[in-house]
Amino acid sequence: MSVAPESYQHSYSGFARSLHWIVALLVLTIIPVGLVMGQIENAPFNLYNFHKSLGVSILVLMTVRLIYRLLHGAPPETNIPAFYRFAGAATHWALYVLLFLTPISGAIANMYYGAATPFFGLFEIQPFVEKNEDLSNFIFARHKLLGFAVGALAIMHIGAALFHYFIRKDGVLQRMLPGA
Ligand code: HEM
Ligand code: HEM
Repeated sequence: MSVAPESYQHSYSGFARSLHWIVALLVLTIIPVGLVMGQIENAPFNLYNFHKSLGVSILVLMTVRLIYRLLHGAPPETNIPAFYRFAGAATHWALYVLLFLTPISGAIANMYYGAATPFFGLFEIQPFVEKNEDLSNFIFARHKLLGFAVGALAIMHIGAALFHYFIRKDGVLQRMLPGA
């Protein structure tokens, strides 16, 4: 069944769209930064601080975003096949969950490592747990896997957005675009 874009007159609010694109930009920055700092030996301290500060920003923005989303819901969809609706909802909620678990695991592992959590040089949160390097390594290993999972889901998500735009031409991407 072909679906007319006109059936998508409902787009996300300006606030929801702004949060989506800011978080998207942060996520698409933090992963390469994480990968680079993991690859180069003795990566500059600042790169780690940048990664951690981006992670704290994502955690704070996702908290605002989740509350807003639970209060306001998503704009109604008409005429979208149940399979696509389910696949979209599953990916979106998995991203929500991962965008909490990943920064939280990073921050906890970082504290057990005995390091402070910086925020762009403005302030830093001192560790409030006793240093435990074994536990830190254990949690960091999970943190990396979670980070890779965020990357994989983000790629799928972007692929799906392009599929909706170029192949199905069903107006789904426009729900998240400015001026929609
Ligand atoms: C959504 C948020 C985050 C994402 C997607 C993310 C992603 C990643 C990824 C993919 C790596 C692996 C790099 C590699 O070794 O190849 C990594 C490592 C790391 N992350 Fe994060 N991260 C996030 C938040 C945080 C936060 C909030 C902190 C600390 C406050 C943090 C601290 C670290 C540290 C210190 C490493 C290096 C660990 C090691 O080499 O053992 N991350 N992160
Ligand atoms: C070029 C990049 C991106 C495009 C084109 C894009 C596009 C979209 C679109 C069109 C929607 C709305 C889908 C619908 O109407 O049901 C959406 C929702 C969403 N996107 Fe993205 N996105 C991008 C990047 C990202 C990234 C990097 C993340 C995070 C890792 C992300 C996380 C989400 C989440 C969690 C939702 C669900 C929003 C909600 O219902 O509250 N997006 N995206």
